[in-house]
Amino acid sequence: MWEDKRVLITAGPTQEAIDPVRYISNQSSGKMGLAIAEHFAKLGAKVELILGPTNLSTNHPNITTHPVKSAQDMFEATDSLFNQMDVGIFAAAVADYTPKVVADNKIKKQGDELTIELVKTKDILKEMGAKKQNQFLVGFALETNNEINHAKEKLEKKNLDLIVLNSLKDDNAGFQHDTNKITIIDKSLNQTSFPLKSKTEVAIDIINKIEDCLN
Ligand code: CTP
Repeated sequence: MWEDKRVLITAGPTQEAIDPVRYISNQSSGKMGLAIAEHFAKLGAKVELILGPTNLSTNHPNITTHPVKSAQDMFEATDSLFNQMDVGIFAAAVADYTPKVVADNKIKKQGDELTIELVKTKDILKEMGAKKQNQFLVGFALETNNEINHAKEKLEKKNLDLIVLNSLKDDNAGFQHDTNKITIIDKSLNQTSFPLKSKTEVAIDIINKIEDCLN
């Protein structure tokens, strides 16, 4: 069913520049997003991978990688492709805030304290949710408390078809690991929980769930 379909995937962290040599970022490895990209590609879909800075790469002929750095870069790359997509999977760990000004020169050490003013980045997924036509939209949520309720709120607020909740309650799940433990919540708020699996197997579970919803 995927041979004539186009899938956009965001993956990895973003880097928000403070000055020419420093940035704010996070621990995302990009492995989950890449595993989803590779499995979709294997099934014949044409994948646009919007990838923040990682040391991962893929050479699958069905995957076009768009390397980006900042949340703003990721927004622009996503926004320019989104209208032509059938499915959007938002696995990136996008910085929620970015420095208000980027210093032109390396900031020199001065007093005992330094304050950097931050401003909100664009919520890429929410913006795509607001403008979606027929796209099937999947978001991720990483929560530490009241997980299911927060994930359901995000599903509704961002106008998603599915949300994938990453559990942090397992030592081998989440950032940097090769395994992950997820619960998928659909638009009718049905929940499916999966055991700890490799990210490749998790990618297959997510794609199977999307197929169930589209059939
Ligand atoms: N997301 C995005 N753009 C942002 C922030 C998040 O596209 N600027 C996407 C992520 O890729 C993920 C989903 O939104 O699919 C949820 O991200 P998360 O950080 O858990 O949620 P937030 O909306 O940022 O809420 P909070 O950090 O307060 O939990």
